[in-house]
Amino acid sequence: MTLIIEQLAGKHDRGGFDCGKPSLNDFLTRFASQYEKRNLARTYVLVRDGEVKVLGYYTLASSAIEFDTLPADLTKKLPNHPVPAILLARLALDQSVRGQGMGGKLLRDCFERCLLLADQIGIHSLVVDAIDDEAARFYEHYGFTRFPDQPGKLFIPLAVVRQAAGG
Ligand SMILES: CC(C)(COP(=O)(O)OP(=O)(O)OC[C@H]1O[C@@H](n2cnc3c(N)ncnc32)[C@H](O)[C@@H]1OP(=O)(O)O)[C@@H](O)C(=O)NCCC(=O)NCCS
Repeated sequence: MTLIIEQLAGKHDRGGFDCGKPSLNDFLTRFASQYEKRNLARTYVLVRDGEVKVLGYYTLASSAIEFDTLPADLTKKLPNHPVPAILLARLALDQSVRGQGMGGKLLRDCFERCLLLADQIGIHSLVVDAIDDEAARFYEHYGFTRFPDQPGKLFIPLAVVRQAAGG
């Protein structure tokens, strides 16, 4: 069965979603629609083509990185003001489909979307607050770097994402 990723809509069945992290389950089942309505974030869900049961999701919002929190080798090349970024606010996969590459599929889709957005407005990096160290290691596996003074927070410059994508 083909898997697709589409924007969260009323038709999607989120009731039984369980990624093993209550706060991430709660966000999808109770809050994601409110964030959509209030333009606070956009959520994209992974479903089997033709089905509505949500297998995984990620959520994006606009953000900015405080200049002083970035590593010195990067700030040398940047003006001293907040650096425009996208926040990967949440990403999670139902436990029933873990370990089959679908978490990676969600993150690659997120990268592609960020590259498209970065063609339209200035965005330097994608930022994520990892929920725990295991999650942080998942992001490191995909090239994210930990902020020097906040090891639970990571970033990846979109230039790095673009280069990895062959652009
Ligand atoms: C994080 C999560 C989405 C990963 O999904 P998954 O199905 O377990 O991972 P995948 O099968 O897609 O793995 C893709 C790649 O990432 C690697 N990977 C997965 N989890 C990893 C981890 N914790 N540390 C390092 N690498 C990891 C895999 O080895 C695989 O590598 P490969 O493509 O080189 O073979 C999933 O475990 C999850 O939903 N966890 C609970 C919620 C959570 O912690 N979300 C992060 C919130 S900040």
